[in-house]
Amino acid sequence: MKKEKTGGLAGIIAGDSTICICGAEEETLTYRGYSIEDLAQHASFEETAYLLLRGALPSHTELTAYQDNLKQNRSIPDALKTVLEQVPADANMMDVLRTGCSVLGNLEQESSSRDALTIADRLISSFSSQLLYWYHFHTSGKRISLKTEEECLASHILHLIHGCSPTVFHRQCLNISLILYAEHEFNASTFTVRTIASTLSDFYSAICGGIGALRGPLHGGANEKAMALIEKFKTPDEAEAAIMDMLKKKELIMGFGHRVYTTKDPRSPIIKELARKLSEEAKETRLFAIADRIEEVMWREKQLFPNVDFFSALVYHHLGIPTEMFTPLFVMARIAGWSAHLMEQRTDNKLIRPLSNYIGPEAKAWLPLANR
Ligand code: COA
Repeated sequence: MKKEKTGGLAGIIAGDSTICICGAEEETLTYRGYSIEDLAQHASFEETAYLLLRGALPSHTELTAYQDNLKQNRSIPDALKTVLEQVPADANMMDVLRTGCSVLGNLEQESSSRDALTIADRLISSFSSQLLYWYHFHTSGKRISLKTEEECLASHILHLIHGCSPTVFHRQCLNISLILYAEHEFNASTFTVRTIASTLSDFYSAICGGIGALRGPLHGGANEKAMALIEKFKTPDEAEAAIMDMLKKKELIMGFGHRVYTTKDPRSPIIKELARKLSEEAKETRLFAIADRIEEVMWREKQLFPNVDFFSALVYHHLGIPTEMFTPLFVMARIAGWSAHLMEQRTDNKLIRPLSNYIGPEAKAWLPLANR
């Protein structure tokens, strides 16, 4: 018997996890019990990654050792550099990272001497190096050095992009953004990672799958689309008129809405405040005013709120980051959450294999070729 259509696994609990709560009644977000507000205010991305991967906050000694370890892991093998040089200059940057991850999976295979935690840390350290090596090779012909003396990942990334150390404020902004993006329960890319891990596949295959899922504009790709939208307008009034028109045509406004949160994304006020401060610092508040008006209109007309991607776009813009790099930056943070989930899936594994709700044709008698 045919059943009603179902969609998107909305509202379905698909497994147990100790890593993150998002949504719930108060629309909160916690990593291993710590609120996103506390993490954004007090933690470094490295502390957050340690917490997600190892289950508890590091002591001072553990954090120093962890930061050193990540710092040592930033370079990439020559064979990977050679492949990155062959990836076309006009490649999508998410494809560059997916390829980089896949190649590293061949060069540094998962084994008894290279375990999941080691690979997680290696990818946290090296995704930015992989992307920026490819980027500079193809934009300026330079084979850049991937060894910076920067202590933290946020500074390393900004240094590789701009060729110099960031200001303390810019480092803090990217650091907070990486924390906000680090983990988010059973979202599409994390669930993809867990599904691949559940087949007992290798670490890199699962992460390649996660990158593929994150690339889509309904997921991580929304931050780039949000930037393209904001940049289209010259004034808040122009933005308001265009958004009203788009809503009338039932078009999606990227960076708004969420599958789990219903009234607010707790990450959004944090990232919005950074976007405001950065635009004031740059004395260029026009884009912020436009984004602010879009937020106002979306709430007034549809009771839809900005998700983390909307104001992240403006933060990255003011940090001088090219728009095509926005979703790859999401990867550089989310690799922490993906890896934590992959390891959790493995500790109590059960193959993820749901059922479909069949809505196709009734059983039919076989039709020989001559009678069709
Ligand atoms: N712009 C305009 N309308 C939107 C919208 C948006 N960004 N997000 C949801 N809606 C509308 C839908 O059109 C639908 O309207 P209808 O009831 O009149 O048909 C209603 O809100 C419910 O949306 P639905 O698509 O069922 O919600 P969902 O839970 O499946 O989708 C998202 C969640 C995130 C996929 C969706 O909000 C979206 O596409 N947002 C834009 C992409 C984005 O920012 N992604 C990043 C998420 S962190």
